[in-house]
Amino acid sequence: MAKHICPFELAENFMRDVLVKVGVAPEDAAITADVLVESDKRGHDTHGVGRCKPIYYDRIKKGILNTKVEITIEKETPTTAVIDGHNSLGHVVSKRAMQMAIDKAKKNGLGMVVVRNSTHNGIAGYYSSMAADQGCIGMCGTNARPSIAPTFAVENMLGTNPLCFAFPSDEKFAFNLDCATSIAQRGRVEQYARDGLTLPSGWVIDSHGKPATDPDAVLQMLTKGEAAMAPLGGIGEETAGYKGYGYATVVEVLSAALSSANFLRACYGKKADGSAGPIELGHFFFAADVSAFTDLATFKKNTGDIMRELRTAKLAEGATRIYTAGEKEFEAYHHQLEQGGVVIEGPIAHTFDVMREETGLTQYIFPWDEKYAQMMKEQGKKEGETIYTDDLIKSMCLDPSFHASKGCMGACNCHHRTV
Ligand SMILES: NC(=O)c1ccc[n+]([C@@H]2O[C@H](COP(=O)([O-])OP(=O)(O)OC[C@H]3O[C@@H](n4cnc5c(N)ncnc54)[C@H](O)[C@@H]3O)[C@@H](O)[C@H]2O)c1
Repeated sequence: MAKHICPFELAENFMRDVLVKVGVAPEDAAITADVLVESDKRGHDTHGVGRCKPIYYDRIKKGILNTKVEITIEKETPTTAVIDGHNSLGHVVSKRAMQMAIDKAKKNGLGMVVVRNSTHNGIAGYYSSMAADQGCIGMCGTNARPSIAPTFAVENMLGTNPLCFAFPSDEKFAFNLDCATSIAQRGRVEQYARDGLTLPSGWVIDSHGKPATDPDAVLQMLTKGEAAMAPLGGIGEETAGYKGYGYATVVEVLSAALSSANFLRACYGKKADGSAGPIELGHFFFAADVSAFTDLATFKKNTGDIMRELRTAKLAEGATRIYTAGEKEFEAYHHQLEQGGVVIEGPIAHTFDVMREETGLTQYIFPWDEKYAQMMKEQGKKEGETIYTDDLIKSMCLDPSFHASKGCMGACNCHHRTV
């Protein structure tokens, strides 16, 4: 399958402008595009640019997702808040909710904000990182479309419900455990389908409890309640699948019970007539200001020492190194910076082509376009190197006034910000 390296700015600006074209405010579109590209940068490509279409673009076009982000605070105390996301873009709602939790923690030691009527918010680690970057412990989670079966059941009831913790450290990266409470999450199944691969046995069971390994069939079966994903620990009790099932339930309760969001089967996102409708999910965001407990530098060092000592454990035969959470994402980011952008495979390139055509954003030239290769050749660039012609920079700027408002030095702030 053809793979192309697309400069981060090109992918981010394009998705932002696509979302603006379908009615999202520029600042909200910019947040969504940022979270999507950040997912790829961290190596969580299952939740990156490949999800712009179908998840966000298509749902907006079908009227399932509101383009106007109108967040209302339904209840508030100095340390807590309940927010209604009014079925708008989950990334934007979540970023604001986490910042609200952090602000409360900075004033009062702790902050917890729960959200109802929200939508898919991508990588949970984006929001926990915000807390760690601001000297707080961050914790967050979200419920999602039914995927995981309870232990001893074959019906998908719980979302793959990520449960995420981030701690500031004196390492180059924060400890950031950012993963689903299932063995694999749906994005991974989508990726296997795109790559034409068979799923490992043990990830998904069918309604008879037998392994289901065809990813296309599994995606269909999940929407009909005919397949279920294994919780962390696996199917049954032998490898303690009830622990993952329990943690997924913890996330479901924290996301939906405090906020009065939809939960379990109500998260299928289907209207009474069976057609696709809003899912109206719940999320939770928690921040604890480290300095309310101890000196931040001491905490960072202690956390760093724990991570460093873990990495000194005796290696298993054949293994070459030990990681701690957040480390692979840090390395993925630097690897991609070196290679010049995000890897976009054929099927995802196709979604970009479709969005470009449908929105008329034809000024965008992608690495898989003939013209792009020609430009690379003219400039003597190798694959992976980023080309920025004046025309391309200008074409990346849908609304120059938006860029100007962000302090852009030239035609495109995003270009000047990162290059
Ligand atoms: N919004 C949603 O509905 C939803 C649902 C599920 C998952 N997600 C997101 O999908 C993304 C991917 O989830 P996933 O479950 O596939 O993640 P994953 O299985 O790739 O695990 C990632 C986590 O494990 C750590 N890790 C990986 N290898 C490690 C090792 N050898 N040693 C120590 N730590 C290691 C990483 O640093 C990271 O914290 C996450 O960002 C998650 O938040 C979102």
